[in-house]
Amino acid sequence: MSAPSHTPAHHAATRPAPRATKVAAHERVEIDMTVNGSEVTLRVPPRVHLADALREQLGLTGTHLGCEHGVCGMCTVLVDGAAARACLLFAVQCEGAEIVTVEGLGSQEDQHPLQRAFSAHHGLQCGFCTPGMLMSSYDLLAGCASVEPEDLPVEMSGVLCRCTGYRGILAAVADVAAEHPDGVPAPRNCRPRTLVGRGGPAPARAGDAVPEARPPAPVEVRLPSGAPSATVEVRTELGVPVEKAWEVLDDFHRLAACLPGAELVEVLGDDRYRGRATVALGPVKLTFDGLAHVVEREGRRMRVLAQGADTGGSTTQADIRLRAEPTEAGGTVLQADAALFLSGRIAQFGRALAGDVSRRMFEQFARAVEENARTGRAPAGPVKPTSALALLAGVIAARLRAVVRRIRRSR
Ligand code: FES
Ligand code: FES
Repeated sequence: MSAPSHTPAHHAATRPAPRATKVAAHERVEIDMTVNGSEVTLRVPPRVHLADALREQLGLTGTHLGCEHGVCGMCTVLVDGAAARACLLFAVQCEGAEIVTVEGLGSQEDQHPLQRAFSAHHGLQCGFCTPGMLMSSYDLLAGCASVEPEDLPVEMSGVLCRCTGYRGILAAVADVAAEHPDGVPAPRNCRPRTLVGRGGPAPARAGDAVPEARPPAPVEVRLPSGAPSATVEVRTELGVPVEKAWEVLDDFHRLAACLPGAELVEVLGDDRYRGRATVALGPVKLTFDGLAHVVEREGRRMRVLAQGADTGGSTTQADIRLRAEPTEAGGTVLQADAALFLSGRIAQFGRALAGDVSRRMFEQFARAVEENARTGRAPAGPVKPTSALALLAGVIAARLRAVVRRIRRSR
C-alpha cells in the first residue's frame, strides 16, 4: 500500500541507527518520536510495545488492543506513513518515527471524511474495531488511484470486527474511495500539543530535560478488598532442624536471598523492605518493584504483606502466612498460605496457573532455605528463577499427573 500523502517525508531512511546498548528488562530507554504532530520524548522499558506506550504514556487510548498478537488489527496506526500493528512494534523500535493514531485523523469539530462516512453508514456498532478500521482504510485509500468495492472485503480483512459491523464499514470505505479517487485528504488533527499519559506526568517535548516518569514509591502495603484472584497452600519438608530453618526465615536478608528471582533493594525500617522480583512464564517476563512488610512474628510463624508493580501495569498483592514446624525425624515442615490479588497482564495467567506457578516458586524457595540453613550462608546473588520454559513444563507435567491420577481413580 502506498504512503499517505500527508506525511512530510518518509523518515525510515533518515532514522538514527538503532542503539546497540544492552539494557535490562526493568531499565528505561529514552526515545524521541513525533506523535500526531507533537514531538515527544518517552522513557520506556525496552519490552513495552508501541500501543502500550501510546495508551499509557501519552494517554492516546484511541489505539485499541485486542489480541496483542498482530491478528485482529485493532491497534493499527501509521508509522512513517504506513499502517503498522502497534502491538508488534516495541516502542524503542520507533526512535525518530512519525506516528499517527486515530486521534490524529480528525477531531470532533473537524472530522476526517472517513470518520464522517463511518458515522453516516453506521459503520461503528460497538466501536471497538473502529480505530483500527479507520487507520487501515486510511492507509488503503491514501494516494490510491482506485479501489473496487468488490475488493474491499479482502482489502479490509486485516482488521476483525467482532460485532459484525462489516456492512456499514465497507459501505463507508466504498463511499470515501469513490469520493476521493486520487487519495483521501491528510489527517486533520496533527499539531503540537501537550500529551498526558494516564496518571503520570506529561512526557517531555523533544529537547526538554526528561523527567523520570515514576510515581513516588509506596511505603505501605495495601491489600484490595474483596476475594483474592487465587489462594495457594503449600507445604514441603526440609531435611534440616526447625531451629536452623527458622533462623533463615527470621532474618529477612537471608529470607529474601532465598526467594527465586528476587533481590532486596532497601531496608525501610519497621520490618518493611523494598525489593525487586522477576517472574517469567512463557513469553511473559515481568519485573516487579515491590514492598514487603512483616506485620506479625510469633514463635515460628510470620505474616508478610507484599505488593509489587510492573512497569507494564501488572500489579500483584499478597497476604502470606509462613509457618515452620518440627517433624518427628528431626526435619522441618515449611508451610505457606497465600492469598494473591493480581491485575494487569499477570492476571491473564488465570487462577489455576497463578497457583501452579506460585507452588513451584515456593518449592524453589524451600530448597534455597534448606541449603541456606545447612551451610549457614546466604546464597551468593539472587536465587535464579526457574527458566520460563522449565516452569511451564513443570506446571504442565503436574497438570498431566493430576489428570492421570483422576482417570485412574475413576476406573
Ligand atoms: S492488538 Fe494488535 S493486532 Fe490485535
Ligand atoms: S464495530 Fe464492534 S467490533 Fe467492530
